[in-house]
Amino acid sequence: MRCGSSPESTPPRSLNNPDGRPRRVLTRNRMGWVSAEVSELSRAWVEDCRRAGETPVLDIGAAFGAACLEALGTGARVIANDLHAEHLEELERRAPAGSRLTLRPGHFPKDLFFEPETLHSVHISNVVHFLTGRQLERGLAAVARWLKPGGRLYLQAVTPFQAIFEGFWEEYARRVEAGVRWPGYIAKLSVYARHRQFSQMPRAVHLLDDVVLRRAAEAAGLRVERCWLFQRADQPKEIRLDGRESVALIARAPEEAGEAVERGFEHVAADGIADPDR
Ligand SMILES: C[S@@+](CC[C@H](N)C(=O)[O-])C[C@H]1O[C@@H](n2cnc3c(N)ncnc32)[C@H](O)[C@@H]1O
Repeated sequence: MRCGSSPESTPPRSLNNPDGRPRRVLTRNRMGWVSAEVSELSRAWVEDCRRAGETPVLDIGAAFGAACLEALGTGARVIANDLHAEHLEELERRAPAGSRLTLRPGHFPKDLFFEPETLHSVHISNVVHFLTGRQLERGLAAVARWLKPGGRLYLQAVTPFQAIFEGFWEEYARRVEAGVRWPGYIAKLSVYARHRQFSQMPRAVHLLDDVVLRRAAEAAGLRVERCWLFQRADQPKEIRLDGRESVALIARAPEEAGEAVERGFEHVAADGIADPDR
C-alpha cells in the first residue's frame, strides 16, 4: 500500500500534548506505547535516511511513531512494517503529503521478505522485547541479508535496568553468571514484577543488555559500530533507574563478501534455562 491510498477515517490524534510537549500514545494491540519523542538512536537513523537516495529504508514495528514520520520527512523511501495493520494506516494518515511510504504489515521475522542487499538501513525501536531469542536471532540474520553492503541497522531495546524490573535483577544476575544465552527472557512477567502498565504488555517480555545485544548482532554477521546503554528522554519517572534503561545498537553489514566478522556465541552455553525455543 502506498501513501495516499488509505481509506477515509477520523483524523489521527496528535502525538503531542496541546502545549506542544510530546506524549506517549498507547498501541492498539497492547504492545506498549508509541513514542512521540525521537531518541538519540532514532535520530541517528533519521540522519542516515538523508543519504538513502532511491534505496529503501525499513522501519520494523514502526507503529505511527515520530521516528518513522521524521524519516519520511527526509524524502527517503520508507517501508513501514508493523504487526498491526491499523497502526500503519494511522501512520499513513499522519505522513506528510508526498511521502514515499510503503506499508508492509506482518510479523517480523516470520512474514517479512526482501531481496538480499536491497535496503539502505533498518530501524527497530522498542520491538524486540516482544521476540523470543530464536526469533531475534532469525530476525537479525534476515536484516544482515537484506542490508546492502555497508548498510546499517539501528536498534533500540528495553533493558532489565528499569526500576519496575527490580524483582528480576537477582535472577538476571544469576542467569548471566551461569552463561545463559538469553538471560533477559521472562515467560511470565507477573512472576517478577507488577505494574499497572503491564496490562498494556504481553505476558512474556525479552529484556536485553548491551552485552547480549552486541553478541546477537555479531552472531548474525553484522559489524557492531556502537552499542550503549541510555535513558530515554520520555522515560516515565517510575521506570527510571540510573541511565541504563534502554540499549541502543548501530551495526553495519560487511562491506565486501568475505570480510571477517566476529561471531558472538561460541563461549556461551547453548542450553540456557531462559531460552524457551531451543
Ligand atoms: C512499543 S511500540 C514501538 C513503536 C515505535 N517503533 C516506537 O519506537 O515508538 C511496538 C510496536 O511493535 C509492533 N510489533 C510487536 N512485535 C512485532 C513483530 N514481531 N513484528 C512487527 N511488529 C511488531 C507492535 O504492533 C507495536 O506497534
